[in-house]
Amino acid sequence: MASDIFLTKEVVTKLGQYLKGKQYSKICVLVDENTEKHCFPLLLKVLPTAHLIRIKSGEERKTLDTCQYIWSQMTELLLDRKALLINLGGGVISDMGGFCAATYKRGIDFIQIPTTLLAQVDASIGGKLGVDFHGFKNHIGVFHEPKAVLIDSIFLKTLSKDELRSGYAEVIKHCLIADKKKWEDISKKNFNELNWEDLCKHSIAIKTKITAADPFEKGPRKILNFGHTVGHAIESYYLSIPGKKLLHGEAIAIGMVCEAWLAKKKGYINQKDLDAIKKYIILIFGQKVMFDFDINKILPLTLQDKKNENEVIQASLLDKIGKGNINVAVKLKDIREAIAFYSL
Ligand SMILES: NC(=O)c1ccc[n+]([C@@H]2O[C@H](COP(=O)([O-])OP(=O)(O)OC[C@H]3O[C@@H](n4cnc5c(N)ncnc54)[C@H](O)[C@@H]3O)[C@@H](O)[C@H]2O)c1
Ligand SMILES: [Zn+2]
Repeated sequence: MASDIFLTKEVVTKLGQYLKGKQYSKICVLVDENTEKHCFPLLLKVLPTAHLIRIKSGEERKTLDTCQYIWSQMTELLLDRKALLINLGGGVISDMGGFCAATYKRGIDFIQIPTTLLAQVDASIGGKLGVDFHGFKNHIGVFHEPKAVLIDSIFLKTLSKDELRSGYAEVIKHCLIADKKKWEDISKKNFNELNWEDLCKHSIAIKTKITAADPFEKGPRKILNFGHTVGHAIESYYLSIPGKKLLHGEAIAIGMVCEAWLAKKKGYINQKDLDAIKKYIILIFGQKVMFDFDINKILPLTLQDKKNENEVIQASLLDKIGKGNINVAVKLKDIREAIAFYSL
């Protein structure tokens, strides 16, 4: 069952209303050092006795080791099945905290309070939870809906520009797969002209519609993975190199250019659209240098994509701007060319 999603300007009031009348035995809040500092104080009024579970920030912590730590903390706090976990943070916290809650004692209630743009427009919605494993993205996980998602743009005020931009990649994705007009609108805008509240509302509407129609990703939901076959492989590759850093959205932005090239190669989109996508994404995100050496390491990682079937890479591409095309078999040699096209 899809959860209640509240887009609000009064997150404290909404949280208070949600908790009223509920008989939770204990309430825990999962935070990292940034959300403890910038976000938790905003909620303190309605959570005076909540227990904090603190983890260190970063994608590299989205692992089973961190889950073990979270489950241990829940156990030490004697959480029973009537307890509530509030995940206060970005996509790392919502994916991993949700996974820990969904599996602890076979599942306790949890709610998502996303505090990054990426988590507000994408990660907190749709019930996909999980962690990375052996360097592969979201390799271990479950589908499980939170009881509620509370989204307030107030949290974005303390977010860095790089993190905001990372979230914008998923906004661009939503426009490209589902709303041509909005793509035409945003692609004329510079980053600092964008209206986050409007874009957040727009993305949430698209994501909820797609995920409600196909909650377990048997078919149409796969379109939300546009940019992610190549993007996740690039993200995993960067994660494997100490000191190299690429945010999720930055990787997906590159992935969208590469997969737009694949769509053009298949004859779905035309050269003009491909060039427009590449030009805009590079304008917003800049261009990373990808040498043959990097490409050789990235390619095998695409073989672990969760959409693959019978060892065939199955990408979710654009059919045209504003419409997707799922289950498209692609070859490694074409992915190589697609990454080379991005690097041109
Ligand atoms: N489940 C899904 O459907 C889904 C969809 C898209 C992405 N994801 C996942 O989401 C993750 C990326 O999420 P993310 O970009 O939010 O990363 P993140 O959770 O690592 O947060 C980014 C950084 O921002 C900090 N931060 C969070 N809120 C802040 C605030 N209000 N002010 C200041 N700093 C703040 C965090 O501490 C962190 O350092 C990836 O692991 C990706 O796989 C999941
Ligand atoms: Zn994503």
